[in-house]
Amino acid sequence: MSAALQPPVGLLAELTYRCPLGCPYCSNPIEMEGRDRELDTATWQRVFSEAAALGVLQVHLSGGEPLARRDLADLVRRCAEEGLYTNLITSGVGLTEARLLELKSAGLDHVQLSIQDADAAGADRIAGYRGAFERKREVAGWITAARLPLTVNAVIHRANVHHAAAMVELAMELGARRVEIAHAQYYGWALRNRSALMPSREDARAAVAEIERLKTELAGRIAIDHVIPDYYAKYPKACMGGWARRTFNVTPSGTVLPCHAAQTIPGLEFWSVRDHSLAEIWADAPAFNAYRGTDWMQEPCRSCPRQTVDFGGCRCQALALAGDASATDPACVLSPRHHVMAEATEEIALPAGEPVYEYRRLG
Ligand code: SF4
Ligand code: FES
Repeated sequence: MSAALQPPVGLLAELTYRCPLGCPYCSNPIEMEGRDRELDTATWQRVFSEAAALGVLQVHLSGGEPLARRDLADLVRRCAEEGLYTNLITSGVGLTEARLLELKSAGLDHVQLSIQDADAAGADRIAGYRGAFERKREVAGWITAARLPLTVNAVIHRANVHHAAAMVELAMELGARRVEIAHAQYYGWALRNRSALMPSREDARAAVAEIERLKTELAGRIAIDHVIPDYYAKYPKACMGGWARRTFNVTPSGTVLPCHAAQTIPGLEFWSVRDHSLAEIWADAPAFNAYRGTDWMQEPCRSCPRQTVDFGGCRCQALALAGDASATDPACVLSPRHHVMAEATEEIALPAGEPVYEYRRLG
């Protein structure tokens, strides 16, 4: 690794794309890798040891549903042995209290539990799984009884855009210390369901204002992490904290990605943990070096004082909305393509009545 290259801080381990839920806003790719292509236990354990040696501090165990991996406790244990902080990102469906305690004994540090809505009917409908809502209540009780810190996360879309405050209330009732509220982002399955998921601009704006108000009102009672949609921001977010700068993802079959949607960018060469060490990939994989730093930038980013604040925004969004992954993210007011952000929401004709979803299913 060159002297200038900083080590990564976080690793998102997508252990499997298998999942009992079918949320239509899932950002997993349309073409998902099946169980037969998943890394085995020993390879994941090697990946975690290499990650620790590289400087990674936190591992987010994700999917799909990571509980679908029977070896999850063995993976958590290796992370703990390597001094890595582990965060389990789960729907809770498929968890038992005994398994939670097994994971805790293996060294699990934190659980992030998803909720789909503030009431059972709405939540089960978007999850495509009857009984999921009640199961999550039970699971949250086990997590807090085990004295594991709990974060609840919720995705906002058209069917629950009016329930933001109720979802925050539910998170408090479940005993969460934090609640993360993100507005649906349109990659993978979510893009396929965009016209069913996207709220009207007025509704999205009202939800943003309400959540920001709750942040102040509930300070000291629950921490609210609110990811404001790019459509309402002046400048883009530093997606992934900057390309290949702080974090990376490993897919179920071992492909290492700078971000979850990086494979939508044509022409990038990704390396696998089956062929290379993480240190080699972080330093030399062509996909990691494609947009690292600032040399690749065009104007207006090239001469912008914010270039090391937001790193030009999101490469995948620049490709999707400006047709060029090295362009300034159109979310930025300085982008000559900024108008496409407004057009992207306006061109979606919101159908009347109940949204019709295409549920995410593996295979
Ligand atoms: Fe960020 Fe580029 Fe916009 Fe400047 S021009 S604020 S670097 S996206
Ligand atoms: Fe790929 Fe933002 S999602 S850079």
